[in-house]
Amino acid sequence: MTTADDLTTDSTVTPYDVRGEIDYEKLCERFGADPLTDEQVARFPDHPLVRRRTFYAGRDVDRYLAAADAGDPHAIVTGRGPSGPMHLGHVLPFYLAKRFQEATGATVYVPLSDDEKFLAKAQSFESIGEHTRENLRDVLAVGFDPERTRIVVDTADADVIYPIAVRLAKHLTPATVEAVYGEQETVGLQFYPAVQAAHLLLPQLVAGRRPTLVPIAVDQDPHVRVCRDIAAKDALPVEKPGALLGRFLPSLEGPGKMSSSDDAPSIELIADPETVAETIRTHAYTGGRATLAEHRDRGGDPTVDVPFQYLRVFFEPDDATLERIAQRYRSGDLLSGELKEIAIDRITAFLEGHQRRRASLGDLGTELEPYRLTDGERRSALERAGVPPGPTTRPRTQ
Ligand code: TRP
Repeated sequence: MTTADDLTTDSTVTPYDVRGEIDYEKLCERFGADPLTDEQVARFPDHPLVRRRTFYAGRDVDRYLAAADAGDPHAIVTGRGPSGPMHLGHVLPFYLAKRFQEATGATVYVPLSDDEKFLAKAQSFESIGEHTRENLRDVLAVGFDPERTRIVVDTADADVIYPIAVRLAKHLTPATVEAVYGEQETVGLQFYPAVQAAHLLLPQLVAGRRPTLVPIAVDQDPHVRVCRDIAAKDALPVEKPGALLGRFLPSLEGPGKMSSSDDAPSIELIADPETVAETIRTHAYTGGRATLAEHRDRGGDPTVDVPFQYLRVFFEPDDATLERIAQRYRSGDLLSGELKEIAIDRITAFLEGHQRRRASLGDLGTELEPYRLTDGERRSALERAGVPPGPTTRPRTQ
């Protein structure tokens, strides 16, 4: 398998390290993903994230599209590593998954890898647990259909995740892990790829073979590659999961990844309107000119303007409106400050809906209940994974 270190550029893109200027097209070539064709883009349920190619490449996308078209079972897995509050960039794959679910009835699985984040970050289980609960509220606020959606938390659903991960780990050597992810600090993180592989196969283990699509940012592609590799080696009754790979939402301060883990400012899903406005007004990188006169004369550059890019990626779904904004900016008619206000307006409107749904949630345990795997689903998954029921499946009562 192709390794984490790129010998031709000085960028690194793995789940645990994103550094340097990302060449999205080159990443595809290097790791054997396929840029989406116009035909594939047209076959997905219409959404700006796909139409404008923020999600721009994939693996085995046609198998998924064929099943979705035919009304055959098809699944999506998109998860969250609960290491902190969720911000705008984190929620994009979830809203995309929701759109697909509404359009074609996709089953959606949302795993939360609290184990992974405990191992990867300098945080206690208590702190990760707090983020897990808050992140779960954000996932619930997206509004997935409980009939077709399952949410799992690694440490809480270990009864089903762990035996599957163990079976898959048998095909994963330390050499592969090191080649794909780079050197890991602990054996915990060396094992984790088997856990995420279990996530990606879970819909098929629970309910039978079906094309599965994993919409994720490119840094998570190594997990998909490893899972596909393992699935090919194991005799499990599953097909390899496919991927729909996304670019990062640009950082407010300019090109690169929008990151919550360094000091770059970002917009949290729970940010109030004043904070959103203040953050964008003070921090957003613009494509405007140095002086008003020069801007009027030569116009701005929407391709590097972060507020414009936020509109393009997600927050202005209408193509004609977006194009009008771009034209007015290029002509110098629209100023950077005015463009920022448009972005503030759209982002605030989106967050208002998200926060309203989030605030209307009651007790977390009760809200989660309809999204949890049933006993029957757990048993089916373990059965398909070839794990016989243990002798002591019932808790001791006295
Ligand atoms: N590893 C992902 C992250 O750090 C979270 C995650 C866990 C995930 N399981 C997944 C993402 C399955 C997509 C699919 O963000």
